[in-house]
Amino acid sequence: MNLSVQLAPKNSRGLLLANPVMTASGTFGYGTEYDHLFDIQGLGAIVCKGTTLEPRAGNPLPRIAECPGGILNAIGLQNIGVEALIKEKAPIWAGWQVPVIVNVAGNTVDQYALMAAKLDQVPGISGLEVNISCPNVKCGGVEFGTTAVSAAQVTAAVRKATSLPVWVKLTPNTADVVGIARAVVESGADALVLINTLKGLVIDIKTRRPVLGNITGGLSGPALKPVALRIVYEVAASLPGVPLIGSGGILTAEDAIEFFIAGATAVQIGTANLIDPAAPARIISGISDYLSTQVFGDIRELIGSLKK
Ligand SMILES: Cc1cc2nc3c(=O)[nH]c(=O)nc-3n(C[C@H](O)[C@H](O)[C@H](O)COP(=O)(O)O)c2cc1C
Repeated sequence: MNLSVQLAPKNSRGLLLANPVMTASGTFGYGTEYDHLFDIQGLGAIVCKGTTLEPRAGNPLPRIAECPGGILNAIGLQNIGVEALIKEKAPIWAGWQVPVIVNVAGNTVDQYALMAAKLDQVPGISGLEVNISCPNVKCGGVEFGTTAVSAAQVTAAVRKATSLPVWVKLTPNTADVVGIARAVVESGADALVLINTLKGLVIDIKTRRPVLGNITGGLSGPALKPVALRIVYEVAASLPGVPLIGSGGILTAEDAIEFFIAGATAVQIGTANLIDPAAPARIISGISDYLSTQVFGDIRELIGSLKK
């Protein structure tokens, strides 16, 4: 059974994953926190917490609120900063079999490019995930992801600064995801991650205050899945041949399989890790079982196999 997928076919370094299941940024720390819980080397890849040029303390508490079908989070990109990541985390990753992808977020186009240049030749880093879709920070993230022009500017600047494989993570909080996807691919992205969280609000009716310290937050979990699937389906139809990485509400192997059928080459597991950190391992073996039962010899036979 072949589960391996190539997520940067046009990049000279390439990015071949042993299987198509990875952890989503912000839900699996730097991987090191989970090393003792299960064999994380069996994952397809690990995407680390969103990283900025300077360390960030994040948003005021509370930062997570439950809601029907998911959670709302407003962490605010709390992270150690790119220099500490290079010094303290990358040397550990360099000894790992599982590829680690660094998720980067900037306040300006130049900051994205500067981080990409700093990370370019660091052993232990296999690719960059460009976050232009975080709904929880004031002057970064999603501002760049809501128009094709700004999304393309960030992508082109990162592309110029590094030869690493580059994925761009898009937001559903915009009218034209397909147009933005096209602009980003034309600017040099090797793959697209679809999608980041949907902006939402939860209110405590006793206090009449928002539950989150940041007031609004990003909706993740099962409620997001149909939206993410629809976007994967639409982008796959418009940009055939571009590797798509599905993200949104995947809790089980069956959820992941829906994404492959819709056109995703790989998937990311996010909120599920907060319930069961070993969820990605369970999902990998469930996908393998499904392929055997359905008599597929290769995951690639399933990708984009939606019947209409
Ligand atoms: C607590 C939390 C923190 C997150 N932090 C980041 C982040 O730093 N960068 C990013 O691109 N996405 C971040 N995300 C979004 C996830 O990576 C993922 O795209 C999203 O949650 C949808 O997938 P899910 O429904 O499987 O969680 C975060 C999500 C959660 C729940």
